[in-house]
This record gives sequence, C-alpha cells and structure tokens, in this order.
Amino acid sequence: MSVQTPVPVRHYLQFTDLSADEYAHVLTRAAEIKRKFKAYEKYHPLADRTLAMIFEKASTRTRVSFEAGMYQLGGSVVHLTTGDSQLGRSEPIEDSARVISRMTDLVMIRTFGQDKIERFASHSRVPVINGLTNEFHPCQILADIFTYIEHRGAIQGKTVAWVGDGNNMANTWLQAAELLGFTVHLSTPSGYEVDQAIAGLSGNANYKIFKDPQEACRGADLVTTDVWTSMGFEAENEARKKAFADWCVNEAMMQVAKPDALFMHCLPAHRGEEVSAEVIDGPQSVVWDEAENRLHVQKALMEFLLLGRVQS
Ligand code: CP
Ligand code: NVA
Repeated sequence: MSVQTPVPVRHYLQFTDLSADEYAHVLTRAAEIKRKFKAYEKYHPLADRTLAMIFEKASTRTRVSFEAGMYQLGGSVVHLTTGDSQLGRSEPIEDSARVISRMTDLVMIRTFGQDKIERFASHSRVPVINGLTNEFHPCQILADIFTYIEHRGAIQGKTVAWVGDGNNMANTWLQAAELLGFTVHLSTPSGYEVDQAIAGLSGNANYKIFKDPQEACRGADLVTTDVWTSMGFEAENEARKKAFADWCVNEAMMQVAKPDALFMHCLPAHRGEEVSAEVIDGPQSVVWDEAENRLHVQKALMEFLLLGRVQS
C-alpha cells in the first residue's frame, strides 16, 4: 500500500491567500486542465475525495462549476444550503465546521460576512474555499485573470477599469492588483466607495479613484462592472437604482478605453442597468469565456489545495 505525503491545510478565503508564484502555477495548471477537458482526456487525480458545497446565497455558475469540476476530477460532492441543513437552525458554524470537515476533504462556502467563513476555516481540518462573501469573490477574479491572459497575455502593468459598486468584486480586483502588479481605475457612486481596510489592502499604490466613470475607462485594457445591488443588499435596491444611474458601461465608455480593450462581467447581468446590451453582447465582451473559465481555474485550485504543486 502506498501512503501519500499529506499536503498542509491551506485555505482560499481571499485573493491574498496565494502568492504570485503560486498563482503562476495554478494558472498554468488551469490551462493544462482545460486542454484535457476539451480533448475528453480522463483526469481523475481527486478520485475518492469529496467536496462539501455550502450555499447560503443563490448561485448558478459557482454551483455548476464546482460540482461539475469535482466530478470531472474523479471526486464527488455534497450540496448543502441554509434551508436544508442545521446551519439554518442555528447550529454554531464552528460545530458545523468540525463535523463537515471530518467527513469530507474540501469545503466550498458561499455566505454573507467574511467573518463566518473565517470562523468555519479556523475549525476545519480540510481546506476551505470562498465561493463568495459580502467582502470577496476570489474564485471569480482568478477566472477573470485567466481569461484576460488567454485573450491578451500577461496582466502585469495593465489597467483595469472598475465601474460600479465598491463591493466584493471590487475589493478582490484591488487585492489582485497589489499582488500581481497592475492598476485599477475605480469609479463608484458617492456613498458606495471601496473601504481600503475591508478590502485588506496594504496601500493605495495600485488604484486611482475617478468621479466620472467614463474617465476611469480612458486608456483601460479591461473594463468591468457588476450588479448595482449584490446579494444580501436587496433592501437598498431602490436607493441604489437612483445612485448608480450614471454607472452603466456603455459604448461611449468602451470607445475611450484602448481599442483592443476587453469587457468582463462576473454575471448575472442586468442589461440596461450596469451595462448596455450593446456592450455585453458586443465584440469586446468575453463574458461567456469568463464564465466557462470558472470551471477550469477552480479545478486547478482544488488540485493545488489537495495535492500541492502537481507537474504533468
Ligand atoms: N459569478 C458568479 O459567481 O455567479 P453565480 O452567482 O451564478 O454563482
Ligand atoms: N457582487 C455580486 C456578485 C454575484 C456573483 C453579489 O455579491 O451578489
């Protein structure tokens, strides 16, 4: 019987949980794992491993990509929601973590406050992945960066324009900019700015703030946005609709970006609110590649967290 060397438990709770060098490895692995998938090449490195997926908020892409991805790697999944588990009946998150992590090999959580996923992780025997919190969405930014590299090459030194809410996506873009060496042009309505402390930034060297969203897009290599109202903030919907009216990525904004600029959106999108139909359905938009790449990068991430630096 051969015994595998155990890989130390590493969590992926925010973008800064991996180093730039580890991202280089994971992104290379994502390209190789995508190649295998497209060629119908069997690759089952996670046979007999189980992923628990805990959803306290709705999801399409995150659920499908983690669930399909784990099966494609030879493993299996358990799907839990607040409504159908004891999580919704006030079992302490620490107790849930102790139990779930004794029965599975990896946990993905989508929840509200970042503190909740951190408490879970600190009582978990197995790696925990952030599938979106109010503060961060690291798996999405990993997919976005992979998509940028596929279309345009290295992101280092490039400019990403963020038009919209200072939310989980904005915070994570800013963490990525610091870690990987690019700049974010940030334009948010007044009252919806990024909070540097919540975003966990070490400084302001990698972002510039613009009052005018069109100016934020000037010269950008990538223009990106997100819904005006994130999950958990629905009570603010009407106020946000008024405040965000000028923060709609339209053709005028894309015209002042670089001629080969890409448009991204994590989806789901609201055409006519944060983005015009012409832009999201237009030639610069790579949103479908971006969504598909969630599958490939998360397979590479799960491989890294469970097996370490696999070389093939
Ligand atoms: N982008 C994203 O995370 O999509 P879902 O909410 O559908 O998972
Ligand atoms: N900012 C959005 C992203 C959805 C994938 C939200 O948190 O609802």
